[in-house]
Amino acid sequence: MNLKVDEIIGHVGEVLPESRKKRGILIHAFQKIQKEYNFLPEEELRKLSKNLAIPLSDVYSTATFYKQFYFTPRGKKIVRVCTGTACHVRGADKVLDKIKDEFKIDEGETTSDLAMTLETVGCIGCCGLAPVATINEDIVGEIDMKKVEGVINLIKK
Ligand code: FES
Repeated sequence: MNLKVDEIIGHVGEVLPESRKKRGILIHAFQKIQKEYNFLPEEELRKLSKNLAIPLSDVYSTATFYKQFYFTPRGKKIVRVCTGTACHVRGADKVLDKIKDEFKIDEGETTSDLAMTLETVGCIGCCGLAPVATINEDIVGEIDMKKVEGVINLIKK
């Protein structure tokens, strides 16, 4: 990746200041790296820094600006328990606690085998199905203490 910025983004680059051009390329590169690794490994960020001639500190400050980028390995399954108001009122905390206990991790953590990352999220717009969790792109609703076992099995699959 030793192309000049203008070669990468074409004539659009003529009207953009150098800093904006590089920032745009960085974000695109972060997305590609994260798609491949599920997070942004330091080694890849160092390569980017070198290839684009951008200080590593600038690479990191750009990446950390966006919540969508991660700096530690993430699980194959991303489980998000909604803790929005409707889900909270209908027992989201119990669901969350049960999943934490089962996998021996806290929210924001990933299992040591990288099978699952557990997160919480605000309302995901399915309040009528509260309490709700997502497993990657799938939504599971009306999770009572009986159903949470099924959710755990789905996560383990
Ligand atoms: S509060 Fe959980 S889906 Fe709306």
